[in-house]
Amino acid sequence: MENPNLKSDYFVIKALEDGVHVIGLTRGADTRFHHSEKLDKNEIMIAQFTEHTSAMKIRGKVTIQTEHGEMSNDQ
Ligand code: TRP
Repeated sequence: MENPNLKSDYFVIKALEDGVHVIGLTRGADTRFHHSEKLDKNEIMIAQFTEHTSAMKIRGKVTIQTEHGEMSNDQ
């Protein structure tokens, strides 16, 4: 990360089905998609919020572990 003052914990996303999309949204005034990562069942992505990424949208069933706990949208 370029800015050493911006410290962000890692979060873990585990796909519970094929074709999950993890979509990164840009930081700042202009909020837009900048990256879409496709995960298949049981694939895991470990990532951070960065100076380029302030939000994330997830399409598909996953479990996520963050500093706020573990959550799932698999209902
Ligand atoms: N190049 C992106 C960045 O540094 C990579 C990234 C980090 C990302 N966290 C993400 C992409 C979360 C999607 C979702 O910000």
